[in-house]
Amino acid sequence: MIRVLFVCLGNICRSPMAEAIFQDMVNKAGLGDLIEVDSAGIGSWHVGEPAHDGTLEILKKNKISYNGRARQIERVDLDDFDYVLAMDREVLQYILRSGTGATANIALFLMYAKQAGLVTGDEVPDPFYDNTFDRAYSLIQRGCMALLHHIRHAEGV
Ligand code: 4NP
Repeated sequence: MIRVLFVCLGNICRSPMAEAIFQDMVNKAGLGDLIEVDSAGIGSWHVGEPAHDGTLEILKKNKISYNGRARQIERVDLDDFDYVLAMDREVLQYILRSGTGATANIALFLMYAKQAGLVTGDEVPDPFYDNTFDRAYSLIQRGCMALLHHIRHAEGV
């Protein structure tokens, strides 16, 4: 099993969006039994809450379902997961600081999409403050495509 964890600040906007989109792609590729997908936040503010309405609306518009609840990342996640993907540098730095000795491959989520020329930046700006859920969706969709391509190649699936 290849385990993939998406991480943002609150686990209500960006990382649940990535989890839902990536899960949908994995399912459509027939890899649901091989790749496990989850998400978490570095903060505890929203633990137990459903995703933000903005995330749920844009997912619904794209016919993708999501019913996860927010959780906070734990140190053990950095050994349990194979890929831990941060939505921005603040999140990446937090994970790296707390993850000494971790076995996961820890990176910026958009790194693969940037390498593939699908995006120009390597961070997903937080839609929480300015409601830019359309922009987040577009970036995350491209990020997930490139990530799946990378994992299929790297893991031979
Ligand atoms: P997310 O967005 O990290 O994409 O889930 C945020 C959600 C909540 C907060 C910040 C960012 N907050 O400060 O509560």
